[in-house]
Formats: sequence, structure tokens, C-alpha cells
Amino acid sequence: MQNQITQRKNLAVKGFFDEETNTVTYLVWDKKSLEAAVIDPVFDFNNLTGSANTHSADKVLNFAQDKHLKLKYALETHAHADHLSGAPYIKVKTGAKIGIGEGIHKVQEIFRPMFNQTDDDEISDFDLLLSADDVIKLGEMKIEIMPTPGHTPACVSYKIEDSIFVGDTLFMPDFGTARCDFPGGDAATLYDSIQLILSHPQHTKLYMCHDYKPVGRNEYKWETSVKEQSESNIHINKNVSKAEFVNLRNSRDANLNPPQLLLPAIQVNINAGNLPKAEDNGVAYIKIPIKL
Ligand SMILES: [Fe+2]
Repeated sequence: MQNQITQRKNLAVKGFFDEETNTVTYLVWDKKSLEAAVIDPVFDFNNLTGSANTHSADKVLNFAQDKHLKLKYALETHAHADHLSGAPYIKVKTGAKIGIGEGIHKVQEIFRPMFNQTDDDEISDFDLLLSADDVIKLGEMKIEIMPTPGHTPACVSYKIEDSIFVGDTLFMPDFGTARCDFPGGDAATLYDSIQLILSHPQHTKLYMCHDYKPVGRNEYKWETSVKEQSESNIHINKNVSKAEFVNLRNSRDANLNPPQLLLPAIQVNINAGNLPKAEDNGVAYIKIPIKL
């Protein structure tokens, strides 16, 4: 497992892997000012029992506290369908602002009617809706916003120095790319987004949001490079045309099961990870729309 701190120029990166959802949460910080951001924090939720806890987020917070980091932002690469977001908890504990790509409006438009949520429910609590023009500063270090839609319309990647946090675009070279079959997803759009990522210099470090440890590999990994992806990604290396990719992606998506936490995750994550309000018995409920 890639558990070390990765050191770049001013940037330091620590990945936290959640084996339940195969998600990597990143803690990134500016070594001079110690200002920090969390990317894609996880809230632990058991879909079968409804039990929830903050162990994953607490690991990140404890590490940040040990290093005397000042957490300024909790950033989402997109509204995840495979885990609930730990961003609201990070915000309560540290005052960090929650940011996501401005395309989240499109995702909310698709999913809010499905869960009978309305805009005036006041449940959405994103502090920052980010576009390509925005830059977030950690000390003197900059986080650039790269819209990289395709998996969802709201997907963004975060570029810091020569490192890119790619969200659900690419997976490790031996696993391929993210699915595009959720409402608003599009394989041709994902191809273009991945070309944008791969247009960066060969040495650029790429940090994956997930790893599924394919057959033949014994450990989880989440750091790679533009060079490695361009040469050997099994779905989208330099020898694969856009038409070939779209064909491969769509046929693979036709056979994928929905993520286990799809319905809980989406209804919570389009509202910045805020859980539904408790009903008058003091209990909050997750909804499952029934399709007859
Ligand atoms: Fe995703």
C-alpha cells in the first residue's frame, strides 16, 4: 500500500485508503504555511444496518493534527456514488470550506426529483462551486481547477504543482477508467477529459480516487504518472482512438452492477454530504425510490 507521504516542491501528499469502498482520501498541504485541504473524505456508512461512524475522517483529522496542519478546504472531485462524503464532519471539526465543481447543479437537477428533494429544502451546503477560472490557495501554493466531466457532469480534477488529483477519470493503468453510465455521464466526454489530463508533461504525478487491486496485483496503489498512463492504461493508452474507447467503455458499462451505496450516497452527496434531517422521532432516514 502506498502509505508514505509523497513530497513534491512545496506540496506534501498523504493518501488514506478505505478498503470498504476502495476510495482514496488525500490530505494535501503546503509545507511552508502548513495550510491543508482534504480531497474526497469518506463518511463510514453501513447500508444494511444504517450504522455510521467517522473513523475514516478521524484518521485524516488526527494525522493533520499531529502535523499541525491548518485545514482550509474539503474538496470533492464529484458527487460520489460509492461512498458518503465526510466533508460535513471535516467542516464541523475544522471550519474547512466544502468545494465541488459547479457542474453539481446538473447532477442535482437529475437526482433531486428522484428523491423528491427541492432546492428550498436548504439541505445543500457547498461553500464553493468551482470552475476552471478559480484558483484555491494554500499558503503560496495554488490548487487549479480542471473540469474533467464524463463520469459525471460535475467531475473536476485538482492540479497542484506537478500533481493532479484525477477523481473518477482514470484508474490505475492495470484497471482502466471510470464508468460513464450514471445519468449525465458520457464516454466521449470522458475521453476528452482524459486527453486533457494526459496532455500534461510525462513526469506529472497522477493520484487516483479509487483502486480495486485487479487480479495479478497484490497491493493497493493509487499514485502513477502521465507517462505510465499514456503508455499502458488498458482502456485509453496512446494507441486507443476515441471511437474505440467509447465502444469499449459503453460495452463494459452495460455489464456493471450499481455500486452498493449508490442510493444512499447520491441523495446525501448532492447536498454536500449532509445527512437527511431527522424526523420527529429524532431519527434520519435514507430513501429508496420504489420502481414498479
Ligand atoms: Fe465516482
